[in-house]
Amino acid sequence: MYRIAVIGGDGIGPEIVAEGRKVLEAAADRFSFDIRWEEFDIGAERYLETGELLTEEDLKELSGFRAIYFGAVGDERVLPGVLEKGILLSLRFYFDQYINLRPVRLLEGVTTPLAGKSPRDIDFVVVRENTEDFYVGVGGRVRGRDRATHEIVRNLYNIRFGIDCESDADEMAYQIGIITREGAKRVITYACDLARRRRKKLTSVDKANVLTDMYGLWREVFSEVCGNYKDITTEFAFVDAVTMWFVKNPESFDVVVTPNMFGDIITDLGAMIQGGLGLAAGGNINPGGTSMFEPIHGSAPKYRGLNQANPMATIWAGSMLLDHIGETAAAEKVLAAIGRSIKDGVVTKDMGGMSRTSDVGDYIAALVKNM
Ligand code: IPM
Ligand code: MG
Repeated sequence: MYRIAVIGGDGIGPEIVAEGRKVLEAAADRFSFDIRWEEFDIGAERYLETGELLTEEDLKELSGFRAIYFGAVGDERVLPGVLEKGILLSLRFYFDQYINLRPVRLLEGVTTPLAGKSPRDIDFVVVRENTEDFYVGVGGRVRGRDRATHEIVRNLYNIRFGIDCESDADEMAYQIGIITREGAKRVITYACDLARRRRKKLTSVDKANVLTDMYGLWREVFSEVCGNYKDITTEFAFVDAVTMWFVKNPESFDVVVTPNMFGDIITDLGAMIQGGLGLAAGGNINPGGTSMFEPIHGSAPKYRGLNQANPMATIWAGSMLLDHIGETAAAEKVLAAIGRSIKDGVVTKDMGGMSRTSDVGDYIAALVKNM
């Protein structure tokens, strides 16, 4: 029996997670285990009513679950960043989910915008660091009168630009990224272990030619860790070049490991080449703690309640959740059922089909039971 916490969240979140649950229930039936679900009312609605994003109590309760199944947050009534940082990023940080695992895999029957590429060519995994880099939230805006509290930054700015921040018209903003040796080591180790179970190739994506301090340390750790994995082929790539190679030679990638922010960017590109955001799933993983699985697309408030959104990314994330808790046969069955649903043309509008959100969920759940 597994206790799974559910955070539907905003926009299309609740309806796509409902389909995911349907499919995971079917998998539980088929493979003889039980899931006990508990829903958490976390998201824009509660925030607007009570001002609460995540409470201490939420976090304490959530930590008692085997995993969290997450829909999406984001709402047009709330300023950008409030829900994203106050809920999604807070969960990732609180539970120290230092791996953001994002498979980029073109399933049979899905159209990729990359001409001449087939499922044989597009099958890699991005391991995005999930707790450091420019996501640590260290930053600020400085006006002249605040100079005392930001002395160091003010001095740097003055040296570089000759502006003294004396008057309030002089203003600057800064945001600092952090990479720690331990933070880099743990995610790179995870990526090496993953590469060992796959095609044994690992690419580090960074920008060590410009952000030499942070990504210099990252590269040093990469080389050290990979020294213990002689059976794996490794390479360094700059993030700008990688956006080219993802498009031109996706077949040359197996496992890609990258700091947080570049991981955010290149996985949206990855989503496109695997057939769109409707198919892109992710896991926020703490191998020794509470992990959380989600589609990587957002809350798409425009489509809320229309029964039109594509639930496949969420269902795929559900498959990753099953894999994570050790139900590997069930996980594989769910992924195979998604593939079959695509082959059978039971897909939503974004993938050129006529099916509704709940039709796709029903169909995949039935396949999981009977296929
Ligand atoms: C993602 C999203 C988030 C991120 C946002 C919503 C905070 O873009 O999961 O990729 O930047 O990590
Ligand atoms: Mg993103």
